[in-house]
Amino acid sequence: MSNVSHIKGNVLNSSNLQRIVIHSCNCRGSWGGGIAYQLAQRYPKAEQVYRNICEKYNDRLLGKCLLIPSFESENLIICCLFTSTYGGSVHDQQSSILENTLLALDRLRNIIYRKPNFLEDNVDKKLDILMRNLDENLSNYNLEMPKINSGIFGVPWEKTEQLLGEYSTGEHPLHFDVFSL
Ligand code: APR
Repeated sequence: MSNVSHIKGNVLNSSNLQRIVIHSCNCRGSWGGGIAYQLAQRYPKAEQVYRNICEKYNDRLLGKCLLIPSFESENLIICCLFTSTYGGSVHDQQSSILENTLLALDRLRNIIYRKPNFLEDNVDKKLDILMRNLDENLSNYNLEMPKINSGIFGVPWEKTEQLLGEYSTGEHPLHFDVFSL
């Protein structure tokens, strides 16, 4: 059975479910377009956390993953997959975006299941410290996303969806609810 469910609608519609909304980010501190812009409008404190992190670590964030509380809704956590160095029309190449999507999703799985071996470098360690106050039971959260990488980043959705399929098996499979407007 597929680990991806397709749902028609706005991924930011309110919900009572505990959920992690996943989106792709650049490493330059800009939530200036697409889904990121909508998140910035609704969750400015979360955007500030993202900006601060980009200011500090910049390109070293590529392939990393950061979960940020929404600060507005107790049930909502925002997940940043750092899949491209730059945003807008100067985003990275498709192959690099896909490679870094996989790296960032691996990290997401490790964060959710608190695997001890995921702290590969100093940036991972710093991000880990930032995430220590999150709910301990992240595995109870629904994983939700728009069709990441397929808008401003220009990667055909099918290619990212194929990567999501890699998390359908193993000790800790992940299920994704994918929203499209
Ligand atoms: N609900 C569901 N889908 C949405 C929503 C929404 N509220 N808003 C946008 N989408 C869809 C878009 O139509 C597109 O198919 O999400 C997909 C991804 O769109 P983008 O936001 O352009 O994201 P992406 O291609 O991953 O590019 C990421 O853009 O979001 C900014 O700062 C971010 O630099 C980053 C880049």
